[in-house]
Amino acid sequence: MDLSSKSVLVVGAGIMGAGIAQVAAQSMRFAGQQVFLHDAREGVAEQAKAKLASTLQGLVSKGKLTTQACESALARIVPVSSLDEVARSGLGLVVEAIVENLEVKRTLFQDLENLVSEDCVLATNTSSISVTAIANGLKHPERLVGMHFFNPVPLMKLVEVVSGLHTGGAVAQGIFELSQVWGKVPVHAKSTPGFIVNRIARPFYAETLALLQEQAASPALLDACLKAVGFRMGPCELMDLIGHDTNFAVTNSVYEANFYDKRYVPSLLQRELVDAGMLGRKTGRGFYRYPEGVPALPPVQFEPVASCAAAPTVADDRHSGVVVKGVHIVPTDGRTTGELARDLETTAVVVHDRMMGASLTGSGATGRAPAVAFATAAGLSAEQRAVAVAHLLSQGVEPHEVVDTPGLVVARTVAMLINEAADAVHQAVCTPADADAAMKLGVNYPAGPFEWLRAWSAQSVVVLLDRLDAHYRGERYRVSPWLRAQA
Ligand code: NAI
Repeated sequence: MDLSSKSVLVVGAGIMGAGIAQVAAQSMRFAGQQVFLHDAREGVAEQAKAKLASTLQGLVSKGKLTTQACESALARIVPVSSLDEVARSGLGLVVEAIVENLEVKRTLFQDLENLVSEDCVLATNTSSISVTAIANGLKHPERLVGMHFFNPVPLMKLVEVVSGLHTGGAVAQGIFELSQVWGKVPVHAKSTPGFIVNRIARPFYAETLALLQEQAASPALLDACLKAVGFRMGPCELMDLIGHDTNFAVTNSVYEANFYDKRYVPSLLQRELVDAGMLGRKTGRGFYRYPEGVPALPPVQFEPVASCAAAPTVADDRHSGVVVKGVHIVPTDGRTTGELARDLETTAVVVHDRMMGASLTGSGATGRAPAVAFATAAGLSAEQRAVAVAHLLSQGVEPHEVVDTPGLVVARTVAMLINEAADAVHQAVCTPADADAAMKLGVNYPAGPFEWLRAWSAQSVVVLLDRLDAHYRGERYRVSPWLRAQA
């Protein structure tokens, strides 16, 4: 099915619809091809076109777009005030980007079926509603498919091509290929709650919210630790940017749609922020105050110990860390310092977070070394703590103490992202390669969950998750059968 030479109708000229119309118009090459843009609110489609004109003209003046490309893209976009106007204009595709409401979307598609030809593909940009449910009631439900873009549409490369129970294989493939013509990187996904990105990303927020609720560390420290391994924004600043109302609503919808599986349980702490109207940047206050944003971390606290940087490190076959001056400095394997102290029969124990090798990136503009969390066993002396801090500093990282929690910050978060991706693969929502592409292109992760898995080891991830599970008891850290099979 070749959709690349046909005209397109975009319904809904808001943030997403305007962006979709832009990418479609900019990639059209055939004479007579048009992008019709319709919005229920009068004048909105025209306003969207006028705004796009000023954006494209800005690109022309910066030399990033030719005048001719700008003019031909704009000429292709035709605002229409009623759907009847485009009924017989040889449409190959309708992309819907209207309000996120099942009944409204269903009604629109049922109306459209009476207007367009039988071979016109119907696509929905829904971010959370079941594609199967939207198609229910159509005369030809096989022609409805999810075409899930990411915001801002012209910049974000990913498109999730979402197949519901009825969606025809040729229809999904046609949208997949059209997305490539539009300069995007498409991935196939099965219609399940959150599709790929919004599902796999849940633990990125949830683990931080859980750590905050346990008073394990400050928002600024959690953000710094995750940015140190390559995430462009920490979870707290990202939630502040998205808006806690929106982020909480997505978490809630994934939780409800999974029949209240406790694994996806939303955070009380986030609900408090929503209830308080502390929605993030848009209200001037979330985890942080704006415009100030994320505060700098305090300097590392320790009394330098003479000669300890040069002290010999010794291996110990009971863990994968080192022993320096009698202090066990151990990368987290899910055991708390208390558990390790018991296993090693000494309180000279420090557990540090997973340092993801080459991806440690530092704190950018601040010029500081990458932040790494560590926890100390009860009974550790100040001098032993200083030995551990000096050792970690000698590794080129900036160690920051957090409350003793299993899996600390990065290891726990990344293990949970891997687990969620593994479960998506287990349920045939997507392939490992598509999950990796989706997370890198849809939410700018520094690596895909299966790339992390290859660099770590399935067995270590499972051991860590099992320890989290034993510690917290409940469904949250349940290991995916797919991941356990890999281990
Ligand atoms: P928006 O509120 O900016 O735009 C929606 C537009 O649809 C409005 O201009 C509204 O007047 C119009 N509209 C509502 N009902 C209509 C109808 N029956 N017929 C024609 N026009 C109608 O919303 P936004 O953010 O563009 O979202 C649109 C869709 O895209 C939603 O389904 C949303 O879940 C999805 N989406 C949003 C993303 C985002 O970051 N904003 C990301 C990915 C998907």
